[in-house]
Amino acid sequence: MNFKVPRGTQDILPDVSWKWQRVENIIQSVCDVYNYKEIRTPIFEQTELFQRTVGDTTDIVQKEMYTFTDKGNRSMTLRPEGTAAVVRSFVENKMFGYADQPVKLFYTGPMFRYERQQAGRYRQFVQFGVEAIGSDDPAIDAEVIELAMTVYKRAGLSDIKLVLNSLGDKESRNSHREALIAHFTPHIGEFCQDCQNRLEKNPLRILDCKVDREHPLMETAPSLADYLNESSSAYFEKVKQYLDIAGIEYEYDPNLVRGLDYYNHTAFEIMSTSKGFGAITTLCGGGRYNGLAEEIGGPPAPGIGFAMSIERLLLALEAEEKSWTDEPSLDVYLVTLGDAARTKGFELIGKLRENGLRSEMDYMDRKMKAQMKSADRLHANYVIVIGEDEVNENTVQLKNMADGQQKKVSMDDLLEELKK
Ligand code: HAM
Repeated sequence: MNFKVPRGTQDILPDVSWKWQRVENIIQSVCDVYNYKEIRTPIFEQTELFQRTVGDTTDIVQKEMYTFTDKGNRSMTLRPEGTAAVVRSFVENKMFGYADQPVKLFYTGPMFRYERQQAGRYRQFVQFGVEAIGSDDPAIDAEVIELAMTVYKRAGLSDIKLVLNSLGDKESRNSHREALIAHFTPHIGEFCQDCQNRLEKNPLRILDCKVDREHPLMETAPSLADYLNESSSAYFEKVKQYLDIAGIEYEYDPNLVRGLDYYNHTAFEIMSTSKGFGAITTLCGGGRYNGLAEEIGGPPAPGIGFAMSIERLLLALEAEEKSWTDEPSLDVYLVTLGDAARTKGFELIGKLRENGLRSEMDYMDRKMKAQMKSADRLHANYVIVIGEDEVNENTVQLKNMADGQQKKVSMDDLLEELKK
């Protein structure tokens, strides 16, 4: 039997997992600086949660969910995104009652979408996301966007751009919706079945249909920009002002509609502009979702957030040919020659590790040369050599790998010497 990793998923192997850890460290330290606290929610939720929030006319809900019936005959779904669960938890745990509002949360974890596999698109991928729930101050929109940009910059990306739009409030959305229906109705027969079904239910979804992308009516479709009411425009202006203050450049794109139903007002994506990046250029997407908490039975709690996949962040770094130079290293590699030396070495390495020194030794009974090669490959800063003579003298040979200097040190003084 020949088992393979499921299509659209990947193993993160040890020569790459350290890069994931670096990104996770950056995420944690940036969230710390911006005062976002971590939340962990289950990998699966009731299917209905996603139907109601992400929206039952979206591609995610219609085509991409991993849905199953559990042994209690309940319909469950592996989470395709994080916002629905975080808002569910906000409502369920009455976080609207917390003294400090908005409640600022972040999460990192696997999401699942049954999508066609291609570069940068997986069926299991890891999203880092933040949600700030409880405030409709446009400054928090700018804060959330700035946080995302900061993570990319700290990771070393420079070829990125922010694309921004406003979807407006309910009133603006409704008048735009009427205009879309009037625009598409005369020719709806030329569109795919999904779009035909979407016409009355949610015509905005037609605009991000992957099948009918090239239809001429897409180009001439009424733009949201022309339907924003005064207060929506004023809100959008404020968000842009705050972005200017933060020194963040953006490109306005009135056609940016996002693929999930819960958005209103601010919508944004961050794209890679690197030539080496594949067809899918979106690294991060987010926006405002006033009304979502009420949709799932909570009190009014306006929110904004984003999510980015770590896979795409790493691909973007590769596309920019940026690699971190600080590969994982060791403090000490212990070369032992012979049985007595290995016994002594085993005792010694325990002490080194107890003192927090990242240490490794040979367990394959290899010759000196092979052990030295390992020390090199593992980027050891020091090599300690113990042979028969050293065991008898209670000493070691200590080699500084940076300058090649080697000296004899008593085992009793070794820790002091290394700490120097
Ligand atoms: P989304 O645009 O569906 O939004 O996904 C956000 C990000 O997740 C994408 O920009 C991309 O980086 C990553 N992503 C999505 N699908 C895949 C895939 N198949 N393979 C790899 N990466 C993928 C959301 O999920 C919203 N919950 C974001 C949000 C949070 N809005 C407000 N708060």
